[in-house]
Amino acid sequence: TGIVHVVGARPNFVKAAPVVSALRGRGAHQSVVHTGQHYDDRMSAVFFRDLGLPTPDVDLGVGSGSHASQTAALMVGLEEEFTRREPGVVVVYGDVNSTVAAALVAAKLQIPVAHVEAGLRSFDNSMPEEINRRVTDRLSDLCFATSPEAVGHLAGEGVATDRVHLVGNPMIDTLLDNLDRFDADALRARFELPDSYVAATLHRPANVDDPDNVARLTGRLHTIADQIPVVMPVHPRGKAAFDRAGLGDHPGVRLLDPLGYLDFVALTRGAAAVVTDSGGVQEETTILGVPCLTLRPNTERPVTITHGTNQLVTEDDLVQALAKVLDGRPESRTGDDVPPLWDGRSGERIAAVLSGWVR
Ligand code: UD1
Ligand code: UDP
Repeated sequence: TGIVHVVGARPNFVKAAPVVSALRGRGAHQSVVHTGQHYDDRMSAVFFRDLGLPTPDVDLGVGSGSHASQTAALMVGLEEEFTRREPGVVVVYGDVNSTVAAALVAAKLQIPVAHVEAGLRSFDNSMPEEINRRVTDRLSDLCFATSPEAVGHLAGEGVATDRVHLVGNPMIDTLLDNLDRFDADALRARFELPDSYVAATLHRPANVDDPDNVARLTGRLHTIADQIPVVMPVHPRGKAAFDRAGLGDHPGVRLLDPLGYLDFVALTRGAAAVVTDSGGVQEETTILGVPCLTLRPNTERPVTITHGTNQLVTEDDLVQALAKVLDGRPESRTGDDVPPLWDGRSGERIAAVLSGWVR
């Protein structure tokens, strides 16, 4: 009985926090299952501390592996957990392997599935996340969409309209809830960062898995660092490759461990621009008004381009695109032209629908 939230990876925690909090406000019976897909303190526990998320009721400790072995281990662990807890509904977040594994297991146990951040599409099946998104939406009884085009994608795939709710973006709830806590000056002092810098974060397989690619990217980042310091909290996925490529050898490059949520958004807020391949960072920079260069051929989040500060860049045009952005940084914006319903109330909207679903 009750609502079971399944989270496993860094972006999941940021999305779940406002939903868990809104349901808590309604006195809902809920529990949080952590799959353990991410497990380092800096990829996991720090988010629970920063966001006031309740300690997970259980951590399945699944850890890393190939897609098949990780997904299989996730499914075995989640099947046991769901069989024991008998959830009234399972809530899954985003597009990571924990998301699709939980949706598959719940659907086969005939437990309703609610997907937060449904309907995003990059139309690029070379991204594991795109496969996870499509399968999860297919299996979901409730689809919570962050943007109108996500609603359109679901309609186009034949999902009944009464299953789809446009609720806005819970990741932006978390951002707005914590705006007073992102202290760029304090972060700068603590890490002895320069006044002006570009923040970088890269972890997509297409960018960081191939050593030749990492070497080329390192060259570009060094060219940027000739002009303006680059600060990069390094995701564990690319760490060894960037170290081998000598990214940190340039005096203008500052490599950090992955940052906790409050520190990372403070870093973003204080940056002249951000270079990223993260999904969530495209959205956060849109609201913070910080220019975002996304090193990808496509995005499942086009509202961050039409309503935000995001642009897609190739490795070849990165340096020039950044120079342009640094020449005329757009005014910081708040509230005017932001995507619809990115207003800090998404968790409440999701909680209202979920409360009607489980009694
Ligand atoms: C996962 C998600 C990706 C998401 C990202 C957020 C999938 C398929 N991918 O990618 O969509 O954008 O999380 O950060 O679900 N590792 C550690 N410590 C950790 C976790 C991972 O060192 O706490 C290392 C391991 O070497 C592991 C590698 O990172 O093999 C990749 O981890 P994994 O969870 O498989 O995928 P991510 O690249 O983190
Ligand atoms: N983030 C963080 N520390 C970092 C990098 C990112 O706290 O060093 C936050 C970021 O602000 C956003 C979330 O993690 O809230 C995005 O996660 P990530 O980029 O790992 O995954 P994606 O969004 O690409 O799936």
